Amino acid sequence: DRSVKIAPSILSADFANFGAEIRAIEAQGADWVHVDVMDGHFVPNLTFGPPAVKAFRRHVTTVMDVHLMIAPVDPTIDAYAEAGADILTAHVEAGPHIHRTLQAIRGAGMKAGVALNPGTPAEAVAHLLDLADLVCVMTVNPGFGGQKFIDMTAKVRTLRAMIGDRPVHIEIDGGVDPQTAPLVVRAGADVLVAGSAVFKGGSVDAPQVYGDNIRAI
Ligand code: DX5
Ligand code: ZN
Repeated sequence: DRSVKIAPSILSADFANFGAEIRAIEAQGADWVHVDVMDGHFVPNLTFGPPAVKAFRRHVTTVMDVHLMIAPVDPTIDAYAEAGADILTAHVEAGPHIHRTLQAIRGAGMKAGVALNPGTPAEAVAHLLDLADLVCVMTVNPGFGGQKFIDMTAKVRTLRAMIGDRPVHIEIDGGVDPQTAPLVVRAGADVLVAGSAVFKGGSVDAPQVYGDNIRAI
């Protein structure tokens, strides 16, 4: 289904070759580039911060979709705007004032996303849907690539109904592969993040494998 966007997560890329990896996935059909920011506090893993994201920006020609798995979020929003994020997604679990956070993300000139951990119900975003451009439904507990898909199709269906005719994307993040993708698309998702399923078996020297993997999703 070509209306569904594929957003490869560079969490599964070669960390010594981000520029080449980003160029390779875009050349092979990636719609967005998904950047997983982890702080070793909100999630038990540490990746990169604003200076690295700013460096990625020089290679991204599509949409840079930045997923913050950090707490607190608000003190960093201007830095991610300055780094060139197109979409900035914060977790509803990251603090008591997600409403303010989404306002601040839009106020800084970015599209705003709100992410839900698997244990958080759809209703947590019921009063945020006019402030968000994207709802990210986590289908793993965040922190690591390559984890097993957790079925959240009921949550996706509930969210699609709650969203109604608002222009809000439903993004799925975690364990997306050719087997799980159709389940969430049927439930109403329109953006699929995929890390290990895109990068597995490929390399910057043989990028067509990335293309085959993207097309298989
Ligand atoms: C999980 C990250 C995901 C992750 C997805 O904490 O937010 O974006 O990279 O990786 P896969 O597709 O391998 O589950
Ligand atoms: Zn992510």
